[in-house]
Amino acid sequence: MGHERSGAFAPGRVNLIGEHTDYNQGLALPFAIDAGVTVLAEAFGPAPAGEARLEAQASDLGESDEFALADPPATDGWRAFVHGVVAELARDGFPLVGARLQISGGLPFGAGLSSSAALEVALCLALADLGSRVAPTRAKVPERIEIARLCARVENDWVGARTGLLDQLASLYGAPDTALCIDFSTLEIDPVPLRLEGWRLVLLDSGEHHVHASSGYNERRAECAEACRLMGVESLRQASAEATERLPEPLRRRAGHVRGENERVHLAVAALRADDLAALGALLDASHESLRDNFEVSTPAVEAAVERLRATGASGARLVGGGFGGSVLGLFAPDVPSPDGVREVRPGAGAHLLAL
Ligand code: GLA
Repeated sequence: MGHERSGAFAPGRVNLIGEHTDYNQGLALPFAIDAGVTVLAEAFGPAPAGEARLEAQASDLGESDEFALADPPATDGWRAFVHGVVAELARDGFPLVGARLQISGGLPFGAGLSSSAALEVALCLALADLGSRVAPTRAKVPERIEIARLCARVENDWVGARTGLLDQLASLYGAPDTALCIDFSTLEIDPVPLRLEGWRLVLLDSGEHHVHASSGYNERRAECAEACRLMGVESLRQASAEATERLPEPLRRRAGHVRGENERVHLAVAALRADDLAALGALLDASHESLRDNFEVSTPAVEAAVERLRATGASGARLVGGGFGGSVLGLFAPDVPSPDGVREVRPGAGAHLLAL
């Protein structure tokens, strides 16, 4: 009999609208895309207590890693995600077994498609499933919401990016032809039909690579927290328009962006339910303006990419994800051809175990 095997796929995501709202208990409207990360795991035979090891190969990068399961050291790059997922699963009491992992996928890193959430979620699902098959306790694979929280801890504590839950929830709950309206104050997820009917959503790489841990992302988060402190509210979701207007700059514009963006998510959901994609396009433009002028997370390379999409006839275009580089999203009407060099994205299935 061969060794136990397990495998999982987790998709990247594109956020249609609702940017920098997740850690402010606001609203967002992401969808899982039809590309992501696959992790195959094969258990080694039994090892003496405390000596089990994990080996990982990142096929796309041609790199590998190896460490003791009982004590993953702090590290960086893609290895930090593997070490962090192992450590956090162990911390939550999920049994782990020594294994060889193979990681592959077609998602570019740092392009704003959330390759990191796809990697964390696929690792978490594959390792938890393998552990539940091999370990005598037959522990269950964690619930999706638990996986999302665990993966967010990996980002926060192992990678150093204070990101919210947007990317993980989109990867875990995505479904074909569906966007997810997520309310981060309750973690309620409302599926919204995303019927494109000949319209196309495309991504254009700005050519600028971004890393949340070292970009202005953490600084923006700190500014939002400071705005809350000054207004005496727990999150920007509770901030009134009047209190926001009285904030000193740049906090007034930061909080103003979040309030406006929550409203745009409501309007985008209504537009999708009415199959009014032209209205969605106008909202994408408005979101971009606010991210550029109020939240100040755009860069000249991102602006050039947005301009290029608009000049080639996009009905709307905006930066996606944290900003400071990465890809921009454009919406094209059925009769307008997409420009060269873009990647079309479609709403695809959420993360799942593979039948091996
Ligand atoms: C990144 C983070 C998310 C979210 C977005 C901005 O993608 O990982 O948690 O904050 O930026 O909306």
